Amino acid sequence: MADKASTLILFGATGDLAARMLLPSLYGLDLDSLLPDRLRIIATARTEQDDAAFREHVLKALGDHVPADYLDQDKAAAFAQRVHYVPLDATHPQGFKALADAVGPDAGEIAIFLSTAPSLFKPTIDGLASVGLAGDHVRLALEKPLGTDLASSTEINDAVASAFPESATFRIDHYLGKETVQNLLALRFANVIFEPLWNARAIDHVQITVAETIGLEGRGGYYDPSGAIRDMVQNHMLQLLALVAMEPPASFDATAIRDEKVKVLRSLRPITRDSVEQSLVLGQFGSGAVDGQPVPAYAEELGKPSETETFVALKAHLENWRWAGVPFYLRTGKRMPERRTEIVIQFKGVPHSMFSGKGAQARPNRLLISIQPEENIELKLMAKVPGLDRHGIRLREVDMEIGQKDVFSDVRRRIAYERLLLDLIEGDPTLFVRRDEVEAQWAWVDGVRQAWKEAGMTPKSYTAGTWGPSAAIALAERNGVSWND
Ligand code: BG6
Repeated sequence: MADKASTLILFGATGDLAARMLLPSLYGLDLDSLLPDRLRIIATARTEQDDAAFREHVLKALGDHVPADYLDQDKAAAFAQRVHYVPLDATHPQGFKALADAVGPDAGEIAIFLSTAPSLFKPTIDGLASVGLAGDHVRLALEKPLGTDLASSTEINDAVASAFPESATFRIDHYLGKETVQNLLALRFANVIFEPLWNARAIDHVQITVAETIGLEGRGGYYDPSGAIRDMVQNHMLQLLALVAMEPPASFDATAIRDEKVKVLRSLRPITRDSVEQSLVLGQFGSGAVDGQPVPAYAEELGKPSETETFVALKAHLENWRWAGVPFYLRTGKRMPERRTEIVIQFKGVPHSMFSGKGAQARPNRLLISIQPEENIELKLMAKVPGLDRHGIRLREVDMEIGQKDVFSDVRRRIAYERLLLDLIEGDPTLFVRRDEVEAQWAWVDGVRQAWKEAGMTPKSYTAGTWGPSAAIALAERNGVSWND
C-alpha cells in the first residue's frame, strides 16, 4: 500500500459538502487519532480570508454538523489548528503558485480532494500540474458529478489522466463508504450459507430501493439538468447492484473487487427503444405532504416548468450465467413517504409444499438488507405457529435479525466520508470507482436515456409523499412482484 499522505488539500473548502460532511469527518478521524500525526490540512476556495477566519468557519461547521455527544470543544479547537487556508481561484493559473508554496518542497505524499463544480476540474488539474502538484506522489479524489453522459465523463477522465495515473485517481461514490454497503461484502463472502443460493436457481428477483423524503434542497441548478437516473441510478444504485451481483473476488483489494464489479456492469442488458416501455417508469412529484407537512410540487420548488424525472423505477437484467432470467428492480425518488435505502433478495418458493390447508402456505424467503436510516439485515423465514391445531400445521413468516442494530449498538456510526477520507489519506483505492466502472455505468445509462427519448416518454406525476406513479407498481406487478413497501 502507498505511504500515508502528509498533506491533504481540500478544494471547495467553503462549500456545503465540506461543512456538512468533509470537515466533520476529518474531525471524527482526528478525535479517534486516526489521522497521521504530521498530516497538514490545506483548505482552499475562492473567498479571500486568512487562517484565523477559516478556522472560525471550521468550528462553526463542526458545531452545526457534529452530533453534540461527540463534539469536544478542546478537540475541535485543536483540530481547527491543523487547518490552513489558501485563497485560490482555479480559473487563474497564477494562483496555484501560492498553493505550492504553502505545501512546500518536501511534502511527501499529497492527497487532494476536489469538491468543486465539474467545470473547475480541468482548470484545477492543469493548475496543479503546472506547479508540480501532480504525478505519482499525489492522489486526487473527485466528487460527483463526473460528467453527465459517457462523452463528458470521458473528457473528465482524460483531463485527469493527463496529470494523474489511474492508480492515483480516487473517484468517490459515497455509498461505498457506508457501513452496511461494505457489510454486504461480509454477508456474502464471510459466510458460507448464502453463496450457494445466490443465483438464478434460488433467487426470484432483487429489489433495490433508494427513497428520499427531501426535495430539491436548493440544488435545482444541479438537479434539474440531471434528474434521478443520473443523480442516483448511474452511480449509487449501479454500485449497489454490482456489489449484490458480483462473483466472489479472490481478495479484498482494489483490483480484485473492481474487476468483479466491472464485469457485472458490463453484463447489464441494454434497455432499448423496444424494451423501454416495459422496463422503465419516470415520475415527477406534484404537491402533497411528507411527514405530515405540505410540500410544493417539483416545478414550484424549482421555479419553472420542467420535464426532469424525480423518480425512476426500472427493471434491469444481467446477461451472465449466475443471473440469467433474474430481474433486478431498481427504484429511487425524491419526496417519497419515508427515507429508506434497502436491498431485498427475494428467493423462490419451495418447489413443493407438503403442508396444506388454511394458514399453511409457505411464503418464499426474503433477505432484507437495510442500509438507511437503520442498518440492519433480516431474513424472513417460515415457522410453525405454536399450538395443537387440529387441521394441521399453521405457518407464519418470522424475522431473523442477523444484523447490526443491536449487536453493534455501542459502536459509533461514522459518516461515509470518514472511511473514504481515511482511505484517500492512506492510499487505498478499494472503495473508490475505477474509470472502467464509471464508463460502463454511463454507457448503460446513456442507452436507457436514449431509449426513453426515442419512445417519447415523459415523467408521470405522483403526489409527494407517495411511492411514485402507479405505473411503477404495475411495472413490478406485471411480473407478479410487489415492491417491499
Ligand atoms: C447524492 C445525490 O449523491 O446522494 C442527492 O446527489 C441525494 O440528490 C444523496 O440526496 C443521497 O445520499 P444519502 O447518503 O443521503 O442517501
